Amino acid sequence: MKRYIPVSRVEGTASRQAHCDLPEGTYEREMSKEGFFGPAVFFHHRHPPTGWTEFTGPLQPRAFDLAKLAAGEASPWSAHEVLVNPHCRVRYLRLPGSMPRLARNADGDELLFVHAGAGELYCDFGRLPIEPGDYLVLPRGTMWRIESAASLDLLMIEATNSSYQLPDKGLVGNHAIFDPAVLDTPRIDAEFLAQQSDDASWQVEVKRRNVVSLITYPFNPLDAVGWHGELSVVRLNVRDLRPLMSHRYHLPPSAHTTFLANRFVVCTFAPRPFETDPGALKVPFFHNNDDYDEVIFYHAGDFFSRDNIHPGMMTFHPGGFTHGPHPKALTRMFQQTKPATDEYAVMIDTRDPLDVGAGAGAVEWTGYVDSWKGRP
Ligand SMILES: [Fe+2]
Repeated sequence: MKRYIPVSRVEGTASRQAHCDLPEGTYEREMSKEGFFGPAVFFHHRHPPTGWTEFTGPLQPRAFDLAKLAAGEASPWSAHEVLVNPHCRVRYLRLPGSMPRLARNADGDELLFVHAGAGELYCDFGRLPIEPGDYLVLPRGTMWRIESAASLDLLMIEATNSSYQLPDKGLVGNHAIFDPAVLDTPRIDAEFLAQQSDDASWQVEVKRRNVVSLITYPFNPLDAVGWHGELSVVRLNVRDLRPLMSHRYHLPPSAHTTFLANRFVVCTFAPRPFETDPGALKVPFFHNNDDYDEVIFYHAGDFFSRDNIHPGMMTFHPGGFTHGPHPKALTRMFQQTKPATDEYAVMIDTRDPLDVGAGAGAVEWTGYVDSWKGRP
């Protein structure tokens, strides 16, 4: 049996409600345990905690322009390696067109996020059209391929040796954020049956322990005529998200959790109205997120708290790195000029440190750490 040391104090000049009614001229910084779920303290600083003049060493935040990566072969296993740890493998696939071979991941569930392009997913479970903003959860072991007349950009997030699950929605219930009824599954339809063949040679690239084996069949192994059960590929489009918000309180990113795996979470930022209470913060609070590495992939819109970020970019904030709104965003700390955010972004928070892969390293924006310089 163990528990956190119980302290709940108000010291000096301080607000009694997090993210609201800050003492005049101060900047709030949160220090917390377990991401945003454990005990936390809120400091009221006289200067923005990101007001550094110089920052050296490996704790620096990184930014990568994944849109600059070259198109590769039409195989997910040739995707660019972006960020990796033993529980999570993030890759970026610039698929030039249809995949000539099937893929199967024996290392863990795969989450695909369609950033650009459209096509058809053919898999063990049938056929499913795909378009920008789609999340596709592919259970470990699923055989799949994508058919498309044009190129697609896909963010791939492998839950190494684990499974994607949904968060417990607690007080707001099972149908908040998205109703499970909006999850789509592939269909065994006429197009799916038409791609089956008895006499054409098909190959499957199976990835296990991050090494690919090639299996050749004298027929198309996507030959199921039906299935039943409670495990399937599922599709969720970001347009179907109805994000939680409070007009009187800036909710932490954990309120936007979409999927959970072992030792990491995937959250989605979708358009929502800004807070309207005059004393409530309208931008993220400063914090270090000491227990997690934070990754954000920018899909669409205008990301309200960051400058010089465009769709297709990814930022990586190692746990322990102090961050918060950029100076320009900070000027709108209590007064936004627009009624709502206009942004779609995928956030990955990992409990264990991530290493930067060769793909991301090649398209790094090295000036990112300096983007907080300057006073609001
Ligand atoms: Fe953060």
